[in-house]
Amino acid sequence: MKKVFFLFLTVFNLSVFSQTQLYIPDTLVGPNVSLTMHKDSVQFFPTGNYSHTYAYNLNKYLGPTLIFNKGDNVNITVNNQIDDTSTVHWHGIHLPAKWDGGPHTPMIPGATWNPQFTVMDNAATYWYHPHMHMKTALQAIKGAAGLIIVRDPIEAALTLPRKYGVDDFPLIVQCQQYDSANQAMELGMQDSTLLINGARANYGYSVYGNFPAQVVRMRILNASGERAFNFGFSGNKQFYQIASDGGLLNTPYLTTRVRLAPGERAEILLDLNGMNGQTIYFMSYASELAMGIQGGPTMPMPQGSPPMDSPLNGIDFNTMQINVVPQTINPVTTIPTTLTTNSPYNPASANVTRTIRFTADSLMVMDGPFYFNDSTFDMMRIDYTIPLNSIEVWKLVNETMVAHPFHIHDVQFYVIERSGTAPGPEEMGRKDVVFVPPFDSVMFITKFEDFADTVIPFMFHCHILMHEDDGMMGQFIVSPDAVGIFENSKTPGDFTVYPNPATDQISFLFPGSPSKGKPKIIITDFCGKEMYSGLVSEKQEIKTTSWARGIYFVELISEQQKVFKKLIIN
Ligand code: C2O
Ligand code: CU
Ligand code: CU
Repeated sequence: MKKVFFLFLTVFNLSVFSQTQLYIPDTLVGPNVSLTMHKDSVQFFPTGNYSHTYAYNLNKYLGPTLIFNKGDNVNITVNNQIDDTSTVHWHGIHLPAKWDGGPHTPMIPGATWNPQFTVMDNAATYWYHPHMHMKTALQAIKGAAGLIIVRDPIEAALTLPRKYGVDDFPLIVQCQQYDSANQAMELGMQDSTLLINGARANYGYSVYGNFPAQVVRMRILNASGERAFNFGFSGNKQFYQIASDGGLLNTPYLTTRVRLAPGERAEILLDLNGMNGQTIYFMSYASELAMGIQGGPTMPMPQGSPPMDSPLNGIDFNTMQINVVPQTINPVTTIPTTLTTNSPYNPASANVTRTIRFTADSLMVMDGPFYFNDSTFDMMRIDYTIPLNSIEVWKLVNETMVAHPFHIHDVQFYVIERSGTAPGPEEMGRKDVVFVPPFDSVMFITKFEDFADTVIPFMFHCHILMHEDDGMMGQFIVSPDAVGIFENSKTPGDFTVYPNPATDQISFLFPGSPSKGKPKIIITDFCGKEMYSGLVSEKQEIKTTSWARGIYFVELISEQQKVFKKLIIN
């Protein structure tokens, strides 16, 4: 206790000390909910300007927690009342691409959007935030984010704390940088203002929660633009991690740390039985993070370089004080021994392994831009076309000197390998963000089920918002055809369209040609409009001069199969 108090004084050496009780965001219980995104302002700093914020509904910062049941037919009305185009993305939720809220479905100011989908996900903590290309950071750091709690029968049958705000606490943790006019900055490498559910939590401010002396549940979201947290409690008090991003673990995992990179969530159980009247601290043990992890110890910089780091980097700091108060009625006082049964796909059943290298212009790059496989995001380029129901292994190889949390839309996945070995117990459950430290690698397996859309792609990206906005993003189409492109493998009946990208004309090569006659080719544009359909031979040229610049799909139909290619017209 003494050591913690000392740390506390070291980090917060201001004389004015204002304590705020943990704010619990209001809830909207599904299936029918309305969200209005609006501009607001909050006084985060004692002097100077209010900070401009974005928020949903009655809040001045962040939004209500949405509560859905698995199986709900959700109907959401979203209204954009900010003076900028935006989207709302349901992070971690498995739904049709057109309702995913990615950058291809923008809402102009004043617009209303009405996504409707069935909740198919398991009980866990998800979240929502804007996803405009090149504006995600700008909008999210102003407070446009909120939690989604999904409940399901398996979770409901367990003896777990689930009284929202009483023994089940939502915790949206953000660390941000504000400029001299008190406005949130997108490039937050000197992020030092800590916010818990939108309340300031350091530098003369502290957030305290009154937690009852029983088993309590904390649903932690790292909603920061950049920083990773290495959460734990003062005195290294043990706790149980019960859920990762997309669902319960098989069994509670007894530990003293949970590391969360931007976008990641964890649910933990903290046993406060018998501790009435005591105080503990919810900490981030950032001194234990490896160099290259955002928030960890600062990299040695060449003499005379401008400071790039935050004073919170590499130190252990308090994020919230917990005052243990008397038990509630009907307290949960035990920890379940088992939770659920996760059944990861068998890697032997994977149709394809895709390798995604995290790259930069040089090995020395620390602040971006970063790329996937050396190419920057292009709204007009589909990086992968994935046949519906394909089971795939994605291998993420970080070739840069900084860490990146990789996130994929549409699916939850299972980590099957980290640094060449099996993942730890904390990563054995369903995930939608996985942290890849510098020069490290991770493999996950997933299945692209239920939702095909030949027009609107799903995104994958780094969840460090600046990296994402800077082009560390890609997109994939889930194609309805059982036979589709496996870009990394050669299928019999494969063909080549050339040149690609093309301008005025295209031709084809049919190695191992379809045996009987000319194959049929159908070319459609990005919106599904047919541009060409007919039998073609290798010598034939198709004029494309009048075609608009963009992505086209070329489908070869032979007796045996269909093969797809994407074609880019410049
Ligand atoms: Cu949390 Cu693509 O997003
Ligand atoms: Cu997402
Ligand atoms: Cu990144």
